[in-house]
Amino acid sequence: MLPASSTTYKPLNPFQRPRRLRRTATLRRMVRENTLTVDDLIYPMFVTEGEAQKVEIASMPGCYRYSLDLLLKEIAEVFELGINAMPTAVNYALFPVIPENKKDDTATQSYNPEGLVQQTVKAIKQAIPEIVVIADVALDPFTTHGHDGLVDEKGTILNDPTVEVLIKMALSQAAAGADFVAPSDMMDGRVGAIRKALDTEGYINVGILAYSAKYASAYYGPFRDALDSAPKFGDKKTYQMDAANAREALKEIELDIAEGADIIMVKPALAYLDIICQVKEATNLPVAAYNVSGEYAMIKAAAQMGWIDEKQVILESLTSMKRAGADLILTYFAKQVALMLI
Ligand code: PBG
Repeated sequence: MLPASSTTYKPLNPFQRPRRLRRTATLRRMVRENTLTVDDLIYPMFVTEGEAQKVEIASMPGCYRYSLDLLLKEIAEVFELGINAMPTAVNYALFPVIPENKKDDTATQSYNPEGLVQQTVKAIKQAIPEIVVIADVALDPFTTHGHDGLVDEKGTILNDPTVEVLIKMALSQAAAGADFVAPSDMMDGRVGAIRKALDTEGYINVGILAYSAKYASAYYGPFRDALDSAPKFGDKKTYQMDAANAREALKEIELDIAEGADIIMVKPALAYLDIICQVKEATNLPVAAYNVSGEYAMIKAAAQMGWIDEKQVILESLTSMKRAGADLILTYFAKQVALMLI
């Protein structure tokens, strides 16, 4: 029941009544500041060896490890969604699931010209050349110890020797036809070294999407399940950033830009919206945000429990990343969102 005062009220007559612009759905759309579109999305996908494999990742319901044949089918289907909305709108980042017997201490499979990533990139570009394919550059899917770099006998992650392997990896991905290589390893100097090597080998048009401000985050847990790539000892805190730091993120992006990055990325996204915002103000390059596996898993789990409205929470989360300043969002929700937006 309305309080008595609401029938006998005296108008406040404020000069501004912000609610005027919220009155109807049409009005709200008219003054909406940020809109999520299929163009913003990059779909990270997991590829595994073999044929006719599509295995759901337990901690990432709705995400699968695909063998190449089924991955190509899925990509063609998702690409159609993009075409209906906007051509070539949903693009792909690739992660390989490497069997234990092909892992070693020095990640030799990472730069095998006939390796899983290289074959997959080749096949995707052959099937649908317009797709933008982004290949991740880091050693962790390929090392027995699960670290992103080479490790000495004391357990120290070696920076410069790792960069030499990353260069070989990036070159092999470029040779396979990747549009972008995406160093996610956080070694110092790797963007410049990879740029130089790409240029020297004639891959002047292969871009670098740099994981510039990549934090040592507990939100990567489900991804490491997907790849069986959790570090066997220690953690990644000597190379990935401390969650408490913001200025350091600006230092990292400054370095990556100076070293030749084309797109810079902040990762994770949701707990780091302030970083996305500051990075956006600090650069005119496109800014990407990685809506990581743990962010995905939290929404899926709460939705499965019936505790949140899955669709609305997904849209709200991704829109918050755009509002913070992200031009691009890597998200496991890409297909689901594309279906919502069409
Ligand atoms: C590999 C890599 C990781 C992610 C992307 N590339 C894992 C890690 O750094 O441990 C995480 C992605 C996600 O959690 O969705 N270096």
